[in-house]
Formats: sequence, C-alpha cells, structure tokens
Amino acid sequence: MRLSITCALALAAGALAVPSQQLETRQQPFKSEPITDFAEPWAFAFLPDDKILVTERRGNLRLLDPTTKAKGSITGVPTVAYGGQGGLHDVALHPNYTENSIIYLSYAESGSGGAGGAVARAKLTLDTNGGGALSGLEVIWRHSSKASGGLQFACRLLFGPDGALWISSGEINQMTPAQDMTSNLGKVIRLYDNGTAYAGNPFASQGAIQSQIWSLGHRNPLGIDWDAQGRLWEVEMGPMGGDELNLIKSGANYGWPVVCEGRHYDGRTIPKHSTRPDIEAPKAFWVPVISPAGLIIYKGSLFSSWTGNAIITGLSSQSIVRAEITGDTAKEAQRISMGKRMRGIREGKDGAIWVIEDGQGGRLLKLTPN
Ligand SMILES: *[C@@H]1O[C@H](CO)[C@@H](O)[C@H](O)[C@H]1NC(C)=O
Ligand SMILES: *[C@@H]1O[C@H](CO)[C@@H](O)[C@H](O)[C@H]1NC(C)=O
Repeated sequence: MRLSITCALALAAGALAVPSQQLETRQQPFKSEPITDFAEPWAFAFLPDDKILVTERRGNLRLLDPTTKAKGSITGVPTVAYGGQGGLHDVALHPNYTENSIIYLSYAESGSGGAGGAVARAKLTLDTNGGGALSGLEVIWRHSSKASGGLQFACRLLFGPDGALWISSGEINQMTPAQDMTSNLGKVIRLYDNGTAYAGNPFASQGAIQSQIWSLGHRNPLGIDWDAQGRLWEVEMGPMGGDELNLIKSGANYGWPVVCEGRHYDGRTIPKHSTRPDIEAPKAFWVPVISPAGLIIYKGSLFSSWTGNAIITGLSSQSIVRAEITGDTAKEAQRISMGKRMRGIREGKDGAIWVIEDGQGGRLLKLTPN
C-alpha cells in the first residue's frame, strides 16, 4: 500500500525529516531514448541476442526486438492474479540459458485465502515470427500463505555468482509473518535452480520453510542486485516513510515490522532502528518515501562516475535515485526527475542503463551519457 502523496504528507506534517531537495537534478544527466511502450510493464530481461523479454502485469510476456521495435508475444504464461499490485512480475534467464533455454517468471497467483507470490520456470522456444512459446512450465516456489488485498508480493528474481536463485519475497501486507520463521513471507530466499533450498542456508537445520530463508524482516523488497565484491544489496518500500537500501547478510533480521524509520499509514509510530541494535539497520533510508521499485548496482564504465553506485527506480518519486556506496555505507548522491513513475531497471552489456516506466503505456527507455 502506498497512499497518495498529499494524504501521506498531511499525516506526516511536521513530524518527519525534510527530503534532500538540493540533490534533485532538473537537467537529466543522460540522453533518454524511448524504444517502445507496453501495457503496465513490470520487468524485462535481455536475451543473448539482445532481444528483450518484457512482462506486462495482466499476464502477457512480450518479446521486443529493440532494433526494429517489433513486439511479439510468448504463449504459455501461467494464469496470474491481476489486481492491486499483483499480476505478472519478474522475468529472469537461467545462468545456462544458452544451453537450456530456461526462463523464470514470478507472479501473483490466486488460491485459498486470496493471492500469493509464485515462481515458475519453463523452456522458451522462439519462433521465426518474433514470438515464441513456453513449455514444461513448473512452479518451483510459492508463498507459504495467501492474503486478500493484492499488495506487496515483490518477488524479484536474481541468479547469484553462486548459481543460486535469489527471490525477494514480499509480506503481502501481513506484517508479522516477516518475523515468523515458519513463513516465507517478507524474506530473502536462496534456492537451487529447481526450487530446492540451497545447501548452507543459515536456518537449514530448523525446518523446510526455514531452510529456504537467507534473511528476514523485509516488507516490500522490489530490488536486489550484486556488487562487484559479490555482496547482495536490496531496496524495499517502507510504509509511510522508511524506504530502505540494505546490505543483505546471511541470517540477518532487517526489522519489519518491529523497527522502521517510517510510521504506519494510520499515523501510529514504529520504534526506530536505533532502539534495536541487534537488528540490521538500513545503509540508507528515505523519509518521505521514494517508493523504490528496482535496483542495479552499476558495474559498467559508460557512466564513468557511477561505477559501483546503487541506481534505484522510484514510483511515487517519479525519479531515478543514485546512491554512492563506500565500504559498507551508502548515501543518496543524486535524484533525477523522470516525470513518470519508474518501474524496472537493468544494465545493458555496453553499460547503457535501461529503465521501464510503470502503468498503461509505460515506455522502455535506453539511457546513455550526454
Ligand atoms: C551451468 O553449467 C555449468 C557447466 O555445465 C555447471 O557447472 C553449472 O552448475 C550450471 N549452472 C546451474 C545453475 O545449473
Ligand atoms: C535440485 O538441485 C540440487 C542441486 O543440483 C540437487 O541436489 C537436488 O537433488 C535437486 N532436487 C530435485 C528435487 O531435483
């Protein structure tokens, strides 16, 4: 849930910190090339031949040729629970995609109690007409419970340097399950490519669900990425205030809903991170919110002064936020106004940054330095 800016600001009046307005960049420090538009896009992934898979929230998987701008469709996508924030979410390629053609999708699915997140894998076969089909679809992971309301599924997918599949699992607005080790809601999850819990996970000895869990206490974790040292960073939406950039450590608790720099939507306060030194504090946080929806740790050199920085797409802030990482600290360095809710982000092979806007007619943009 994310309330309107006016309402949230009115509720927060006087009580919360002032945003870093001085960091806001009016002039965009890059050229932005619109490629084409989509119906409520959520995520995208590059194929080895530079074509791009794009998810649309109603359950369509599109194949874009960015050169000709032709858009095809991939059939065989599972039925998704479209509504609220839910639908078709992320897409990722198996690390050995060139050999096995396997892709992964995350999405909201309906079932007893409402909707929950799920992850499936399937083989992608491309045809000669710019489209393709999925076959052998297999659900390899799902939320351990469902809820009504259609909120905070998250489920970003990322393969690690260890070959593991990482999933950032949202708490579907249920709050306390993020601290419950018998639930996989509100956790960072580490699995083998077939959905089995990865050996050596920190809570492996405690039970089946516990064995999937890498870290806990997450709310709506929409972005995860590796830095050059192989450390995992994560962004998550807080409630009213308290969006976080976290450095994710094995077995650590990130606090939701016990501690948070924001407050509940009804105005109730939440103890701050400083009251619980045993819980991991964010490396950077935002009050008021930026609504982080995607994250890369920039590894290229095309944007030469951005290497190693966290680049975050923001929904309510309609911006791209750049945070500098020094050792294990992070600080917002720049906020670039985009004039649209920004949803997904990926780095291209050549170091160009690709972003996708949210909502109906959301455009895929290729960003290169001025
Ligand atoms: C990818 O293939 C290599 C070589 O066969 C293998 O060692 C590795 O485990 C595979 N990765 C995954 C995630 O299956
Ligand atoms: C899943 O993959 C792991 C690692 O390759 C393997 O040890 C395990 O047996 C597999 N599980 C199933 C159910 O195939």
